[in-house]
Amino acid sequence: MSTERWTVNFLVSRKIGDTKAHLESFKIEVDPDEYVLDGVERIWAFHDRSLTFRHACHHSTCGACGMLVNGVEKLTCITTIRSVTHNGGTLKVEPLRNFPVVSDLVVDMGLFYTRMDEVKASQVVPVNNSTLPYETVEFPADGIEHERLADCIECGCCISACPVALTTDSYYGPAVLAGAHQTESILKDGQAFNLVDHADGIWRCHSGFECSAVCPSNVDPAWRIMDLRRRVIGHRIKQFFGKK
Ligand code: SF4
Ligand code: SF4
Ligand code: FES
Repeated sequence: MSTERWTVNFLVSRKIGDTKAHLESFKIEVDPDEYVLDGVERIWAFHDRSLTFRHACHHSTCGACGMLVNGVEKLTCITTIRSVTHNGGTLKVEPLRNFPVVSDLVVDMGLFYTRMDEVKASQVVPVNNSTLPYETVEFPADGIEHERLADCIECGCCISACPVALTTDSYYGPAVLAGAHQTESILKDGQAFNLVDHADGIWRCHSGFECSAVCPSNVDPAWRIMDLRRRVIGHRIKQFFGKK
């Protein structure tokens, strides 16, 4: 942190109930080395306690704080104010695209999480039988260890940046397909192929890599989708010739 002080005009998207979203202006003093999320929190703390937004860890782990900052998907807890505006400048904060907006900066990620489960991105392996270098979490409900995609923090930034997800919400989207890639990489049983080898899965992607460009966690979902396509084709050819 520095002793420098900037005055920044935060333009924050507000949406309450069924009203149309609009931008509200909050001029606040900030340390430019603070993060965008710090600015949003300051607005909530000192200007408007009704502002809603998601956050938890403040260190790029929970994936809750993804927002559009000046129109670009960012994890706001690691995006410095200095990197996105200047002293006396404007900083626009909006909710992620391609998700239903619940209120203000909060989006509904329910469908995304459900799809992550559908492609078995929560890996299921027998308890105490994992030799994999990934963190595992035991869910008491079923006594089975589930492994999330190693690097994906499920922030939704890639889905927000995806132009195909913008055109249809039936498309699985980059993080989900990346999850399927991880599933197949671990289990190597070909089952994940069946879950994504269809028009709303790997074949709808137009290979522009916008998702990988905004991913804050080096998951590189677009590369994973391309690799899944390659693997699916190989798998189908083998099946055609009667090999497993
Ligand atoms: S590469 Fe595919 S998944 Fe990634 S943003 Fe483009 S269309 Fe979406
Ligand atoms: S793939 Fe990257 S951008 Fe997409 S949800 Fe996971 S961490 Fe976020
Ligand atoms: S607050 Fe957890 S990732 Fe930003």
